[in-house]
Amino acid sequence: MFEKQTIRDIKFKGKTVLVRVDYNVPMKDGKVTSDLRIRASLPTIESLINGGAKKIILISHLGRPEGMKNPELSLRPVAEVLGGLVNVPVKFISDVSGPDVEDEIKKAPNGSIVLLENLRFWPGEEKNSADFAREIVESTHADFFVQDGFAVIHRAHASTEAITHELPSVAGLLVEKEVSVLTSAISNPKQPVLVIIGGAKVDDKEPLISKFLGIAENIFVGGKIAADGYKSESPKISVAADFVEDEEGNKCDIGPESVSTILEMVGSAETVIWNGTVGLVEKEPFDKGSVAIAEAIGKRSDVTSIICGGDTSGFVEGLQALKPELKYSLVSTGGGASLELLSGLELPGLSVLLDK
Ligand code: 3PG
Repeated sequence: MFEKQTIRDIKFKGKTVLVRVDYNVPMKDGKVTSDLRIRASLPTIESLINGGAKKIILISHLGRPEGMKNPELSLRPVAEVLGGLVNVPVKFISDVSGPDVEDEIKKAPNGSIVLLENLRFWPGEEKNSADFAREIVESTHADFFVQDGFAVIHRAHASTEAITHELPSVAGLLVEKEVSVLTSAISNPKQPVLVIIGGAKVDDKEPLISKFLGIAENIFVGGKIAADGYKSESPKISVAADFVEDEEGNKCDIGPESVSTILEMVGSAETVIWNGTVGLVEKEPFDKGSVAIAEAIGKRSDVTSIICGGDTSGFVEGLQALKPELKYSLVSTGGGASLELLSGLELPGLSVLLDK
């Protein structure tokens, strides 16, 4: 059950709405290389347009510019991609507050979208500055704040926390969907539950492993964590037992024996949560183990399947583009946010939204 008010609880007709999205998208040579997070924001944007919102002002961060302007991390290219996905005009403004922003927003036609510049060009964003948040609200003349940047709600920043003290603040549809699916995986999952853990940093995954020791029937650990010698006494935890090596003898993927162990586990699970690829997916043939897992999960349309972690979601999304028959309950847009939520931690950008 989602316990926060959402955009469904508010009438937006004639209102200016400030929406926090997470457009922290991968970029190469000034071009967006995955539009997963941009597409994920469309249901909320379209719902606000259909509800008659006067203007939709989008705010986001991109990368970690650490409070300084960095043209390589401008959101301008993202505005272009968004413009190609919606049927209303999208205007980009290379600032987030002040008279020019006020003026530009005033000139934007009713029913249109405005995307402001990367919030992290200003130090106030990561400092959770009340003044920074207030300046944005005053310059945009927003009536409501909508939090739809699921991937960033584990941060207490000006655009996730301080801003909610300035405006009535509710969740967008992406936040509602991600939080609902992920929460039900820890509070009321269909048993048996299988968790597949990969990736490189064991410290990041420990809270997730501890949380699911009390919930899951099986936890499989692969990836660099297993290659580096992860050990556990728990009978619930299986660690990859064989690996595929490169010419220098580096363990770059899990081996066939480990793959068949996981496939058997996937076959008997009712809920599967996968966080972290199990090999070097960017370097063929070391993507084989992860491809086998993604296909096995994606073919089981009868189970609850959750894919999370930036690399894992991006990888699965790429595979789905080639094999659209693969289906998952949720390919999360969140990396740290989904990990923290599944680990049972409170998310500062979520708890501050209006209760139902
Ligand atoms: C993410 O990609 O996980 C989010 O956008 C958060 O980014 P951050 O880790 O730089 O805060």
